[in-house]
Amino acid sequence: MAPNPSTQVGTATLTYGDKSATLPVLAGTLGTDCVDVRKIQGDLNVFTFDPSYGATASCESAITYIDGDEGVLLHRGYPIDQLAEKSTFLEVAHLLLFGELPTAPQLEKFTSGVMRHTMLHEQIRRFWDGFRRDAHPMAMLCSVVGAMSAFYPDSINTHDERQREISAYRLIAKMPTITAWAHKYTTGQPFMYPRNDMGYAENFLYMFGAVPTEDYKPNPVLTRAMDRILILHADHEQNASTSTVRLAGSTGTNPFACIAAGIASLWGPAHGGANEAVLKMLGEIGSVKNIPSFIEQVKDKNSNVKLMGFGHRVYKNFDPRAKIMQKTCYEVLGELGIKDEPLLDLAIELEKIALNDEYFVKRKLYPNVDFYSGIILKAMGFPTSMFTPIFALARTVGWISQWKEMIEDPTNRIGRPRQIYTGAAARDYTPIDQRG
Ligand code: SDX
Repeated sequence: MAPNPSTQVGTATLTYGDKSATLPVLAGTLGTDCVDVRKIQGDLNVFTFDPSYGATASCESAITYIDGDEGVLLHRGYPIDQLAEKSTFLEVAHLLLFGELPTAPQLEKFTSGVMRHTMLHEQIRRFWDGFRRDAHPMAMLCSVVGAMSAFYPDSINTHDERQREISAYRLIAKMPTITAWAHKYTTGQPFMYPRNDMGYAENFLYMFGAVPTEDYKPNPVLTRAMDRILILHADHEQNASTSTVRLAGSTGTNPFACIAAGIASLWGPAHGGANEAVLKMLGEIGSVKNIPSFIEQVKDKNSNVKLMGFGHRVYKNFDPRAKIMQKTCYEVLGELGIKDEPLLDLAIELEKIALNDEYFVKRKLYPNVDFYSGIILKAMGFPTSMFTPIFALARTVGWISQWKEMIEDPTNRIGRPRQIYTGAAARDYTPIDQRG
C-alpha cells in the first residue's frame, strides 16, 4: 500500500540573486508542513544544506507519527501507550506492515505465517563456528542477517509482492532465533531450536533461557514484559537506522542486505547502542553520591561525556516509551521479588537531578526509550551485550515495514544527497620529484 500523498497547502517563495522560485508547501495528516525543494536546483541553481537532516523530511510515510513537543507517538494512528497496554507484538507487527490491526482470522493467519519461518537454514548454524566466542552479538546479527540473502534467493526479488511478503515473514520470524543463538554461542550452551507452539516473545525467551537437559517454560509476567519491550521498540519513523534501511533499499538491493545495514546503523551508542551504554554509565557512577560530579562532567563541553539514555532529536518532552518502560521496570522487579535494585535507585535519582538542572531543562533533554530498558533486561537475566540485539530484533518489523512502503511507493528513486565541496579547486598533477 503506497502512502496517502500529502497535499499542497500553500507556497513559499525563495529569492536568490535575481531569480525567485515558488515552492509548494506540503501537508500530511498531522505534523509540520514541508517546503518541497525538489525544483530548487533547476529554478535557482542552488542546493539545500542540512547535514544531519534536522530540517529535512526524506519521504512520505503513513506508518508512524511523532509529535516531539507533546511527547506523542502513534503507529498507524494508534497511541503507543494503548498498543503497549492492550496489544501484542505480532498484532503491532501486522499493523505496521499492513496498515490495520488484524481481525481474529487475520491474526491467526499472520501468526502462523510468521511462526512457520522461525527455523534457520541448517547451514546458517555453521556461521557461528567462524566467530570468536567474545564477538559482540551485534556483529553476529549484522553478519548472519546479511548472509540470509545467500540462503533465501527465492525471496529477494524486490519487484515481486509475494517475495517481499515472504522475506518480511522470514526476517520477523528468524530474528529471535538469530538473537538467541548469538547469546548461546557466547555462553557455550547448545543452540535451542524455536518452539512454534509458543508465542513470539515466549519463544524468544525460551531459546534464550532453555537448555536441552531440562524443561523450561518462560515466566508469563516476564513474557508479557518482553512482548511490551518489543512493541515499544517496533518502529520510530525516520530514525538513523530506518533511514539507513531506506537508503540501502532505494538502490534496489535485497531486504536482507537492507536490514543488515539497519542493524549496523543501530549499533552506535548515539542510537540503539545507548541501552548498553546506560548500564555501563550507571555502573561507572556507582552510587548516588557520585551523581553531582558526573553531572558536572556531562555539562563540561570538553569532557565528551553524555548522559546516556537522555536527549532525542525529535522529543523535546518525555519520550512516551520511557514512561511505559519505567512502569514495566517496576512490574518486572516486582515479579522477580527484587525489592532493592541499586541501579534503578541510581537511575531514578539521576533522572530527578537532570530534570531539575538548568543545563538539561534549557536543552529540553528528557529520558528516552533506552534509559530504563537496560535495567529491565538486566533484571530478566540478559547480559548488557544483548540489549542492542533485542532492540534490533524488535525494530526489524519497523525496518521491513518502512522498506516495503518505500518499494511500493511509485515515486521512489535512488537516494542521492549532494554536498558543499570544500576541497582543493581543480589543479594539475604534479610529478613526484616536484612535490614538497
Ligand atoms: C534512539 O531518532 C530516533 O528516533 C532514535 C530512537 C529510535 O527509536 O529509533 O528513539 C532510539 O536512538 C534514542 C537515543 C539514544 N541515544 C542516547 O541516549 C545517547 C545520548 N543522547 C545523545 O547523544 C543525543 O541526545 C541524541 C544523539 C539522541 C540526539 O542528538 P541531537 O539531536 O543531534 O542533539 P544534539 O547532540 O545536537 O544536542 C543538542 C544539545 C547539545 O548541546 P549544545 O551544543 O547546544 O550546548 O544538547 C546536548 C548537546 O551537547 N545534549 C546532551 C545530551 N544530548 C544532547 N548533553 C548531555 N547529555 C546528553 N545525552
